[in-house]
Amino acid sequence: MADAAPFWESTGYGPVMVENVATVMAELEAEDFYLLSGLEQGMRFSKWVNREKLPDFADMTAEDVDYRLDRCEKRDLVERKTIQYEGFRLTFEGYDALALHTFAERETIEGVGAPLGVGKESDVYEVRSYKPLALKFHREGYTEFREVNREREYTADKEHVSWMYTARKAAEREHEALETLYPDVSVPQPIDHNRHAVVMERIDGVELGRAKLEDSQVVGVLDLVLSELATAYDAGFVHADVSEYNVFINSEGVTVFDWPQAVPTDHENADELLERDVENIVGYFQRKYPHHVESVDTQQLAIAVADGEFESVDEFAT
Ligand SMILES: Nc1ncnc2c1ncn2[C@@H]1O[C@H](COP(=O)(O)OP(=O)(O)O)[C@@H](O)[C@H]1O
Ligand SMILES: [Mg+2]
Repeated sequence: MADAAPFWESTGYGPVMVENVATVMAELEAEDFYLLSGLEQGMRFSKWVNREKLPDFADMTAEDVDYRLDRCEKRDLVERKTIQYEGFRLTFEGYDALALHTFAERETIEGVGAPLGVGKESDVYEVRSYKPLALKFHREGYTEFREVNREREYTADKEHVSWMYTARKAAEREHEALETLYPDVSVPQPIDHNRHAVVMERIDGVELGRAKLEDSQVVGVLDLVLSELATAYDAGFVHADVSEYNVFINSEGVTVFDWPQAVPTDHENADELLERDVENIVGYFQRKYPHHVESVDTQQLAIAVADGEFESVDEFAT
């Protein structure tokens, strides 16, 4: 029985057909998830989990393991490699499936819709729930993992779980930052997190880098972004990756997103990172709207942001 089946029929939802794990979810059965989570357990100890150990990890008969492995392998949720033994590991689609399954069980989400954004470090999808939400799968460490893996196929080193670990930590950190900052700072409302995935409010708007601001709005919008950074600092975080790609703008204002690398303000590099954030956003505005944003003392500006004394970038013109 496909336990979550009705929820996963995402046809007709959004213009873009979603492949990969979202469509696969409808076909998966409860026992497939036992197998996947057994494999996840095994991956704590080895990069490629010996087939013979899977019945224990998954609490299933060897016969059931074979049957489930076959189904999961066909759907690209697991990969196989024969070394000295026949080993298996989760693919990131397999890890995605586990997180989605958990969200469905918790009734956090009802179905997955169209992609909202594909970054180097994440895949973000629209999800159906009581309101439109966004689901971000962290991919930190995954590309790196592939490279490491090619070179060191036979070493049972500690790096074998690095992508799962790195991505899970990133999701935890992002969720924690959002929990702390929302609603004082304009960030997406955090809803839930599991493994390498974060569910949050879906923001309608466009990335700042793709918006064309009216002349009269330019300085005001820059001030809004800087004010959010000031409030975040006051709440204990420096974003540390502020750019025109991590700020949405809509008629209600700006939203700063993408927080996994945020650092606490008591971190030794916090002020340096804040200054870099300020430089990045001011620099972007200066390049894109050269006649509106003049030369600014970003160092003094960053100090004002940190001290809660920031009001307008105009006060820092040099
Ligand atoms: N809460 C959200 N609502 C709507 N779209 C989002 C949301 N979060 C992320 N996105 C989209 O997904 C893209 C990647 O997300 P982001 O958090 O910036 O991750 P990355 O680390 O890959 O840059 C964003 O540029 C944006 O277009
Ligand atoms: Mg981003």
